[in-house]
Amino acid sequence: MRVDLRNVCKRFGPVQASDSVTLTFEDGLIHALLGENGAGKSTLMKILSGFYTADSGQIVLAGKPAVYDTPAGAIAHGVGMLHQDPLDFAPFSVLENFIYGQPGGLLQKRGAARDAFVRLAGRIGFDLNPDAYADTLTIGQRQQLEILRLISLGVRVLILDEPTTGISAEQKNVLFDTLRRLAHDEGLNLIFVSHKLEEVEELCDDISVLRHGQVVCTQAMPCPTEYMVEMMFGQKLVRARRPDVILGDPALQVRDLTVSTARLAVERLNFEARAGEVIGLAGLDGSGQKLFLRACAGLQRVEHGRVVVAGRDLTGRDYHTFMRAGVIYGPAGRLEEGLVGGLTLAEHIALADPKPRMWLDWAGITARTRAQIARFNIKGRAHDDVRGLSGGNQQRALLALTPPNLGLLLLEHPTRGLDVESAVWVWGQLLARRAEGTAILFISADLDEIMDYSDRVLVFFNGQVTEIAAADTCVEDLGYLIGGKAIGSVEGEA
Ligand SMILES: Nc1ncnc2c1ncn2[C@@H]1O[C@H](COP(=O)(O)OP(=O)(O)OP(=O)(O)O)[C@@H](O)[C@H]1O
Ligand SMILES: [Mg+2]
Repeated sequence: MRVDLRNVCKRFGPVQASDSVTLTFEDGLIHALLGENGAGKSTLMKILSGFYTADSGQIVLAGKPAVYDTPAGAIAHGVGMLHQDPLDFAPFSVLENFIYGQPGGLLQKRGAARDAFVRLAGRIGFDLNPDAYADTLTIGQRQQLEILRLISLGVRVLILDEPTTGISAEQKNVLFDTLRRLAHDEGLNLIFVSHKLEEVEELCDDISVLRHGQVVCTQAMPCPTEYMVEMMFGQKLVRARRPDVILGDPALQVRDLTVSTARLAVERLNFEARAGEVIGLAGLDGSGQKLFLRACAGLQRVEHGRVVVAGRDLTGRDYHTFMRAGVIYGPAGRLEEGLVGGLTLAEHIALADPKPRMWLDWAGITARTRAQIARFNIKGRAHDDVRGLSGGNQQRALLALTPPNLGLLLLEHPTRGLDVESAVWVWGQLLARRAEGTAILFISADLDEIMDYSDRVLVFFNGQVTEIAAADTCVEDLGYLIGGKAIGSVEGEA
């Protein structure tokens, strides 16, 4: 089903998020929709999938103008969207999630629904247990479930908004194979929203680039990476240089540490990070890196061993004590744990004040907020609800809230969802903190990021930790360790 967008406009307050967008997506192809943070990609796709209504303009499906104003209406027209955080119901099983929203809903015959599920999953190439509970699934598996659900509802246009964020390399390969089959063999119309140019090069048949809500180009693949970057940002990129830093005293010492959950344990870990050091934590999701990082901030109960921050034993203390000792934890869930949806940027700045006051000086707070907005290059205003910021701008806001002169900064996925330019900018900020003597530990699924910025790397596999110096390793070796294999061990088998 061919999609034509004609002069689609959408405004949020002063922001023209879609500015007379006219674009065609032919069926049987995988289209990339590119653009920097805040360019208007998600907005446009939310219009096409019925989450937002356009202020003006037209959606034409297979040559016929289509009007709908809900996601269910879009699905009835054959258009479905896979969100970055799949919208499933955790307490239900995979099968229940699959049949929910279908004609007959949960009253359908289980046996028939199960057969349909197993057949469809087999055809698409996903290996999912219909009886598993949705909250035990990885992000990659929840995504597979949502794709199956949308396909079973007869979707012919499938939109994927940054679908490879947070899934493993293996799941990504499965996903890409499936997407190729759906487009090239079954003739679906796929729209792939991403910042990751390597993935776009690997997967997509053509690209369109948005900037400030407008289409700047549409182009068949292959096309040179530099061209895509220039179209996205209107300029060439300069990477932040890694300054040489003389390491200081130990900022964090972990002695004989054991932390565990019902499913996973990190046992008897010894580790030290010195002031100014950057340590990358690599591993598949759920391999113990997050457990470890949270224990370093008083957010995870320590079963055995000690956590010492700048020479002070803080084992068993709460996060507030760690914070007072100069530790900040930056979570991956920007809106769940980091920012408070419903509050404005200025209210966040007031909340983050290290010296809370009896009376709030709103004029002063607004001025400080404006200064941070300018300094961190946030596309938004002091009195905007943070929920209205694009993903990348939420990330910038989190950084703007992080106090200066920290001893230890613990970050989950500091550049997840950021475009290349914003990611380089974030690392510029982090490296400047490193030069001030902050030790940084960060989790990332992006091996290039780990290699580019770490002094040392801790690789987690099923709770086991291997420590290596970044200078002694390469992306390929890291890949082996993350998969639980000794370096080079697969060569003989190949
Ligand atoms: N619900 C909303 N309320 C107010 N402003 C919004 C809302 N949704 C989006 N915007 C604004 O519209 C612009 C485009 O945002 P959008 O989320 O479409 O960008 P994006 O290209 O998907 O960016 P990212 O790559 O960071 O996800 C941004 O300036 C954003 O702040
Ligand atoms: Mg987006």
